[in-house]
Amino acid sequence: MIYHIPWIYLPVRTALAIWHQLTKSEIPELAKASVLMRDRSRVEETIQAMQRAGPDALQVISDFDMTLSRFAHNGKRCPTTHNILDNDLLINDACKKMIRELLNTYYPIEIDATRTVEEKLPHMVEWWTSVHELLIQQKIRRDLLAQAVKQSSAMLREGYKVFFDRLQEQQVPLLIFSAGLGDILEEVIRQNHVFHPNVHVISNYMDFDQSGVLRAFKGQLIHTFNKRECALLHAAHFRELKERPNVLLLGDSLGDLTMADGVAHTQHALTIGFLNDQVEERKESYVNSYDIVLVKDETMDIPNAILNYITTAPAK
Ligand code: TMP
Ligand code: MG
Repeated sequence: MIYHIPWIYLPVRTALAIWHQLTKSEIPELAKASVLMRDRSRVEETIQAMQRAGPDALQVISDFDMTLSRFAHNGKRCPTTHNILDNDLLINDACKKMIRELLNTYYPIEIDATRTVEEKLPHMVEWWTSVHELLIQQKIRRDLLAQAVKQSSAMLREGYKVFFDRLQEQQVPLLIFSAGLGDILEEVIRQNHVFHPNVHVISNYMDFDQSGVLRAFKGQLIHTFNKRECALLHAAHFRELKERPNVLLLGDSLGDLTMADGVAHTQHALTIGFLNDQVEERKESYVNSYDIVLVKDETMDIPNAILNYITTAPAK
């Protein structure tokens, strides 16, 4: 009706257009209460630029434990890939006790908001090295790993299938970059039917002897805070993807932000951080470091919404 009054037509239209610009969101899921953003307009601009470049320019890099896998379900903590080995099939009670004690000692250090990464580094090396030595002493058998994964309460985040399947359909490479255990991680995604050909894993892999008994770990040890060095060691992987300068990165630790340091010529990068634990203590540093922070969100809703937007051709 108002449009039919000629002198009011232009100003009202302009005001309506501005209002629409201010309030619209291309991705309504970003309005969820669990979503925190330091700079919402930068996030939206990046997502739009990534959409214009399309799926052929995109690569996704994700952490595994507590990022693709759930932190908790029905109020109970879910296991990390290391904790999946806490099973009578694989290790004895004395070893279980020692691994739990190590977790109780070092996990609080890993997530301590008052310590710097430099302060945490030696503790992380100690934690991983001690656990891996204990695992080697237990002579873990390769043929029992799948059963241990089946018996565990490990779960991928709600919506994981849409995430993995969409990336596969769009032929977008997914790098899972994990300081957990590669053999276990692969088994988790295999048992969930999402170990598609576009998935590449960089992680700590077990080295088995001829009879299938664990005797060592392969290559450079990866812990939470040396992902940058490890990314640089895997330069060949990133070189293969040099035609894909846009990166969507998912993590749950501040150390995960360095996973994309192997990408030589990044054009647009969007980082999403799951803040699962010690929320109040760590909120500020997460919001300052990740573009999008998801607070106690056990779903893949936000990554899926963003991915869906980026990989759908813009309306003409
Ligand atoms: P991620 O890089 O896939 O997140 O894996 C690393 C996580 O594994 C890190 O948050 C600490 C955790 N972890 C355990 O839960 N138990 C262990 O024994 C070790 C060494 C690490
Ligand atoms: Mg993690």
